Amino acid sequence: MPSNRRTFIKSLSAASALVATQGIARPLVQAPAYIPNLKKISPNDKIRIATIGMGIQGNFDTRAALRNPDVELVAVADLYNGRLEHAKSEYGKDKDLFTTRDYREILTRSDVDAVLIVTPDHWHDHITIAALKAGKHVYCEKPMVQHLNEGKAVIDAWKKSGKTMQVGSQRISSAAFQEAKRLVQAGDIGAINYVESNNDRFNAIGAWQYSIPPDASTATLDWDRFLGDAPKRPFDATRFFRWRNYKDYGTGVAGDLFIHLITGVHFVTNTLGPTRIFSSGNLAYWKDGRDVPDVMSCIMDYPKTDQHEAFQMVLRVNFANAGKISNVTRIIGNEGQIEFSENNLIMTKKKLPMAPGYGNYDSFFTFTEPVQQEFVRQYDAKYPPDTRKSEPAQEIKFDAPKEDDAHAKHFADFFDNVRKGSQGTVEDPVFGFRAAAPVLACNESYFEQKVVYWDPVTMTQKNPAAPGAKSSKKKPATVAKAVAKK
Ligand SMILES: NC(=O)c1ccc[n+]([C@@H]2O[C@H](COP(=O)([O-])OP(=O)(O)OC[C@H]3O[C@@H](n4cnc5c(N)ncnc54)[C@H](O)[C@@H]3O)[C@@H](O)[C@H]2O)c1
Repeated sequence: MPSNRRTFIKSLSAASALVATQGIARPLVQAPAYIPNLKKISPNDKIRIATIGMGIQGNFDTRAALRNPDVELVAVADLYNGRLEHAKSEYGKDKDLFTTRDYREILTRSDVDAVLIVTPDHWHDHITIAALKAGKHVYCEKPMVQHLNEGKAVIDAWKKSGKTMQVGSQRISSAAFQEAKRLVQAGDIGAINYVESNNDRFNAIGAWQYSIPPDASTATLDWDRFLGDAPKRPFDATRFFRWRNYKDYGTGVAGDLFIHLITGVHFVTNTLGPTRIFSSGNLAYWKDGRDVPDVMSCIMDYPKTDQHEAFQMVLRVNFANAGKISNVTRIIGNEGQIEFSENNLIMTKKKLPMAPGYGNYDSFFTFTEPVQQEFVRQYDAKYPPDTRKSEPAQEIKFDAPKEDDAHAKHFADFFDNVRKGSQGTVEDPVFGFRAAAPVLACNESYFEQKVVYWDPVTMTQKNPAAPGAKSSKKKPATVAKAVAKK
């Protein structure tokens, strides 16, 4: 790789000095707002990535990223030593892979172009903003943020940075979702009026009881850093390795699973989002100390826009479904429906005839004989035979090609934009937040037992969170201080 493409700004303090020497009458800035991206990545250069959070999805993301040409993993940050050692043996066999427990050491490295942020949800906004400020391109896992009031700061940081950012709900890069979008946009199912989607499960791993390594202790992992801005508490390996089950670190079934359903629907319909969100649920079965529900349903109202008619969306997750599980997303229009998963879709087209018909379970037979005769005379005059035929129902199937690799394609879109110096990814932070906000509102609706009113255009909540709710207590600056003390 040509060395002249690398910036030699090594750290925030070096950049502060740069700003200070350029400043004339300005007071010394504590830290530069953003490190300018001095790197030019030519189409022939490798993009050097670092993964922050090398747990389950960190490995899947890293492998998907590396299935793209000219991408190299140079560094890994994680809080558990076992995962750093595993990363070295998995990705560092033929090279010296830099590993650290402190993600800030990744951000100051000049040989890192882009970071993959694959930590628990409560760290997403902090690391994303720090990475963008440090001049890195960012691929951040879904949901983009943990609380409704954190999205704007990420969008702001992204805009100011000029860097490329992709949010990681990778299924929208699958061939089936792209085909669904094409069909909906072509008007093949008419005006959409209802969307339903569910993701049920009934097994312990599916309900997030992930394995806990027997060597887990404060010697082998960084518990204080894991807590970040969450309330302080004594070491608890279950919370560290099964963080999804606790609202201090995760976003429950809404942020973990509704988010994929909603991201797909937003992608296909070009919607900006709902205005009214209500959810209800219960902890029905997995009473293992978790404080998030395992059964949750949500109703969202999407208003009419220039892209679509008004529609309702109903989402459900049931981790205690011991019945028949049939997980599917259905977009229903007034001329048909599309039922799709990541790998295939079935479109059913059905158009009603203009004539309504009469007879059978209808009031016609209750009329007197002369009234029935007059009714038929008027009906025949109003509805000639050609208005009485419906179009035959059609079923069209689409199977994604076997080699379709949505995950690698999602990264390909990210890397293409990095190389082009463009911010135009398929799931940029504005899209990412518009998809995350309704699911975060589901949590707020569930925990505060209220309807959440949302403005999808300005991305602001109409009825703010109750005082004392977790989302209003979060202060990134406090986190920075707490972590800096370490
Ligand atoms: N896109 C998808 O399909 C998909 C699938 C699964 C998970 N995810 C998302 O990926 C993220 C990670 O989920 P997971 O299942 O891999 O969790 P995980 O617990 O397996 O891994 C998280 C890792 O992050 C590390 N970590 C925590 N805080 C850190 C910090 N401050 N700095 C560096 N490392 C830190 C932990 O040590 C852990 O190894 C979540 O946001 C989740 O929602 C996305």
